[in-house]
Amino acid sequence: MSGGGTVITIDGPAGSGKTTVARMLARRLGWGLLESGSLYRAFTWILLREAPRLLESPEETAVANFLRGILPDLRCELGEEGLRIYFRGRRLSEELRAPETEARVSEVAALGAVRRLVNEILRGLVRERDAVAEGRDMGSVVFPEARYKFYLTASPEVRARRRYLEWKAKGLEVSEKEVLEGIKARDHKDSSRREAPLSIPEGAVVIDTSELSPEEVLRRVLAYIE
Ligand code: C5P
Repeated sequence: MSGGGTVITIDGPAGSGKTTVARMLARRLGWGLLESGSLYRAFTWILLREAPRLLESPEETAVANFLRGILPDLRCELGEEGLRIYFRGRRLSEELRAPETEARVSEVAALGAVRRLVNEILRGLVRERDAVAEGRDMGSVVFPEARYKFYLTASPEVRARRRYLEWKAKGLEVSEKEVLEGIKARDHKDSSRREAPLSIPEGAVVIDTSELSPEEVLRRVLAYIE
């Protein structure tokens, strides 16, 4: 299984553990790790920097046309450790996680024309290399024909606790209650939007990770695959 075209999808809400497990699985298989959220984050960062006025009252065609225009300046490489994104030769990494980017990304991701552009890029990347694709709509919209599909979930309290511990380890001052409220708000936004809402893809194996370690989740995923 090499040379591109084979996809395993892992979808789920924030804090479900999908990114951690997708990374472990990609390493294990020696496949690319396609983190679709990074592309939404990169487009958001580019818009904030190059065309902030387009975000004032986003009109999807104008935003998508602008983004198509900067495509020659964008390079994406599908690595085992994730998607490497370069804009005019500069590797984007920390800026994609910056609070300013994070605060606007769901607005950009709600625009249908932007989603179609992101999906074209994602499909192009897996033609080159087999991949584990993680996100919100990988199994439902982008790769409905994926060989294996997984949907990870966990209670909002468990997901909030994971995010809280992650942020605390980075030295960020937040309360667990605030994180829980943020998670519930994002769940609501992602599940109720018109374009590609977060949902369990048809044919996906659902794993509740509330009581499982990442290694245990990986073991279950591998048991299905192998
Ligand atoms: O997964 P990550 O937190 O990097 O995703 C950032 C944002 O991008 C999500 O909050 C969601 O709004 C959007 N996203 C999406 N569809 C995907 C992946 C991410 O709408 N497949």
